[in-house]
Amino acid sequence: MNNQLSDSLWVAKRCAFAAIAALSVAPAPQRAIAQTPVVSVVEYYRAASDQYFLTGRSAEQVLLDVSDAFRRTGMSFQAKAPSASTDAVCRYRIEVAPTLASTHFYGLSDDCALIARSQPANFFYEGIDFSVTPRLSDGTCPADSARPVYRAFRAQSSLAIANHRYFTSARTYDAAVRQGWTGEGAVFCVAAVLDEQMSALPIAPSLAFGQPLRALSRLKNANAIEQRFEATLIASPTSIQLAGTNATEFWSYNGSVPGPMIELYEGDSVRIRFENRLPQPSTIHWHGLPVPPSQDGNPMDPVPSGGGRDYEFTIPIGSAGTYWYHPHAHGVTAEQVYRGLAGALVIRSCDNPLPEHVRERLLFLSDLKLASDGSIAGSSAMDAMNGREGQYLLVNGGLQPTLDVRPGETQRWKLFNGTNARYVRFAIDGLAFRQIGTDGGLTNGPSPLLTELLLAPGERAEILLTAPNTASIVRSIQALAYNRGTMGMAASQTTVTIGNLRTSVDNVAASVSLPLSLRPIHSLLAQGAVPTTRRFVLSESGGMGMSTSGGFLINGKSFDPTRIDTITRVGAVERWEVQNNSTMDHPFHLHGTQFQVISRTVAGRDVVDSFPAWRDTVNVPPNTTVSFVVRQDQTGKRMYHCHILEHEDQGMMGVLQVDL
Ligand code: C2O
Ligand code: CU
Ligand code: CU
Repeated sequence: MNNQLSDSLWVAKRCAFAAIAALSVAPAPQRAIAQTPVVSVVEYYRAASDQYFLTGRSAEQVLLDVSDAFRRTGMSFQAKAPSASTDAVCRYRIEVAPTLASTHFYGLSDDCALIARSQPANFFYEGIDFSVTPRLSDGTCPADSARPVYRAFRAQSSLAIANHRYFTSARTYDAAVRQGWTGEGAVFCVAAVLDEQMSALPIAPSLAFGQPLRALSRLKNANAIEQRFEATLIASPTSIQLAGTNATEFWSYNGSVPGPMIELYEGDSVRIRFENRLPQPSTIHWHGLPVPPSQDGNPMDPVPSGGGRDYEFTIPIGSAGTYWYHPHAHGVTAEQVYRGLAGALVIRSCDNPLPEHVRERLLFLSDLKLASDGSIAGSSAMDAMNGREGQYLLVNGGLQPTLDVRPGETQRWKLFNGTNARYVRFAIDGLAFRQIGTDGGLTNGPSPLLTELLLAPGERAEILLTAPNTASIVRSIQALAYNRGTMGMAASQTTVTIGNLRTSVDNVAASVSLPLSLRPIHSLLAQGAVPTTRRFVLSESGGMGMSTSGGFLINGKSFDPTRIDTITRVGAVERWEVQNNSTMDHPFHLHGTQFQVISRTVAGRDVVDSFPAWRDTVNVPPNTTVSFVVRQDQTGKRMYHCHILEHEDQGMMGVLQVDL
């Protein structure tokens, strides 16, 4: 949605918000809510042809500015005085009366119960984004001076029904009607956005940061026999003391967040016992691994709360790579992952083409959204829509860790994006690095020097970097700003510090000579006749509510575990074309195998993929078609889906059946 926004507009927006923030610090008389103006708006601007932001001081001004804005798009807008019922939650009313067909429904996020929650929650109306200020602990409403900036914008400019986005449901509409919030439009509340960048986010306790990068704990092999790996993973609520806060209840595997790292070798036969001590059904999915479908933790095979099962598989030769594991029970995957259930899984081969003394580090990225009391925050309607991004991006469970290196030392980093929805445009403050691996393992050879690398949710990469030759230098490791087309500002739209690279005072390390070739990647296309082509269209539908499914679609359909969407045969090479017809980026993921991206068509123009690689997840931005070739080698059902876990939970997933 914000794709069209240029950086300077964002800067303008930020500056304007900053000005408002400063303004609101000025002493304002404490007044009871009922006497305050409906809303106060001092500024309104049009950021792009289809987006409006407003802030201000008086109802009249809102009326003026907004009605003018909406008039131009064929809508009218009225601000109304707060009613007794709205006062109860410290919100004001704004009535929007669009000159649209009355068949439209307007609403809050899915359900009015949100109002009663103790945290600010976001409401949407036609892209106008509001949240509610809860009562203060003494029962009073916050003073105007403490009422943060709010804003509104229109999601899309066209009045054609199909182009509108509704973030509501019929149920919500009914609820709004019962509240008397009707008319030719609907009514919504005031808004209180606490921070312009993190509009949906509560103010979280500050965490300690900057400690040395902690190594991931390792899942112990309970079996001494060569080439056999046996262990148990127990998923359960676990209270963990984050540095700097009270204990937080996470859901963890074996008590650690992220889960213990699983290290396996090609050829290993593996048996992992899973015990589900969560209050929900769950599964363990081995993301990216070619395990049999019955062992892959599909949503069709949930393990009930209190239940358990064994997952058994063998690691094929040639599958050395950087994988991860996480739950996959339908509708609760996002929640289980954001509560802490995800871990790294590394498969090693016995022939490592890189010099053994090159130090390897694993950086498992996860996202954390805390409520102000330090507990894991619930998800807002905005989170459901965009995919959740919290206040914190953690590495191996720590905030902004320090990674010590010798001057001139070359290290090999394995990066895992284990977040629900955060895009990580990875960079080391201008320090160039080479990519040597993708999801499914090493590439043909080291890439040319890169200064950044985009890791969509679910993706992994391996890089080689050489530290500067100078002692005691600090370079910040960053996730650069990336606009993935979310509604409103997502955390990843500003640059975030992942950690810091710090050179020691030791002597400069001897330089490492890199092999030119790492592992041959044979083209799947070369292996047969012209493949069957399949097309998958990603879209977002109207009428989407916060928890109603059906908002995010593949080929126009929402996930149904009993339906088979696509059938293929073992060994058949196919060309899959994934086209994004929505307004947001979606990372497309396929289970059970690794594929080779062969082209990307961006707005009708062909862009050839830069290097051959094995992937299981690929980002598909709006107006883009990504084509890959793929082959499945085992019979059974495989999932393909968007790896923004909120989208997956809301139906952006399909079933591939592989027949003999
Ligand atoms: Cu990472 Cu279907 O999953
Ligand atoms: Cu997967
Ligand atoms: Cu998505």
